[in-house]
Amino acid sequence: MVFFKQNRKIQVEDILAKPLPQHIAIIMDGNGRWAQKKGLPRAAGHRAGVEALKRIVEFCGEINIPYLTVYAFSTENWKRPQEEIDTLMNLMVEYIQKEINILVKKGVRVNPIGNLEELPSFTYEYILKAATSTKNNDKLILNVALNYGGRREITRAVQNIARLVQSGEISLKQINEQLIAEHLYTKGQPDPDLMIRPSGEMRLSNFLLWQVAYTELWVTDIMWPDFKPEHLVEAIYEYQRRNRRYGGLNN
Ligand code: FPP
Repeated sequence: MVFFKQNRKIQVEDILAKPLPQHIAIIMDGNGRWAQKKGLPRAAGHRAGVEALKRIVEFCGEINIPYLTVYAFSTENWKRPQEEIDTLMNLMVEYIQKEINILVKKGVRVNPIGNLEELPSFTYEYILKAATSTKNNDKLILNVALNYGGRREITRAVQNIARLVQSGEISLKQINEQLIAEHLYTKGQPDPDLMIRPSGEMRLSNFLLWQVAYTELWVTDIMWPDFKPEHLVEAIYEYQRRNRRYGGLNN
């Protein structure tokens, strides 16, 4: 596979020659604008967004990225018209119905994260089914953020930790960053190395607030439905040329 950057050929082999990000997070943004530009209903944008997701999941599997987290539905998305919410909930079920066998075969573990109990029951059931039938897979962990909010996730962690203190299971002194991380949905996973936001927006939008403390951000004007492996290659290529100092000095 060959991609171009500033008239120079970027090959997948180029990014494979250096350490790859172990965890990539993506805000799948721009579905609505993509559809609008084409004079299509917003639902068509979300449908095309699912196709983009399929391409990227497959590609991450091919190049051995172990963790991918995608923002599928935020705690704020309930403010959208009911028709659009229904479209998104139905699309998720359709995605699972059509893709589950492939996901199982390709070693993808579907790990839904977020307040799942508040989802419509049919979506909830399918999501849990997908999680159960892929639970033994470990090639690619696909965290699907559903009814997810970063602040809500941290609030939930604080409540759970407070309960442990209240019951005497832990003392106040035992609360540290590691303990907090262990009470997040991403428990046991490395923090994202790279966060990608298509559609040109420059916001975190309440996504993985705790986990992205030192994550490299990569923003593109490409709308999510147009996002292809070549864009991911470009993002990784740039990521590999960043100087990650984690608050320290250059090595
Ligand atoms: C943001 O675009 C996108 C969403 C709110 C939904 C993302 C969901 C999918 C790609 C499909 C469902 C996911 C799975 C796991 C099958 P937007 O609608 O905010 O676009 P806009 O900013 O251009 O209006």
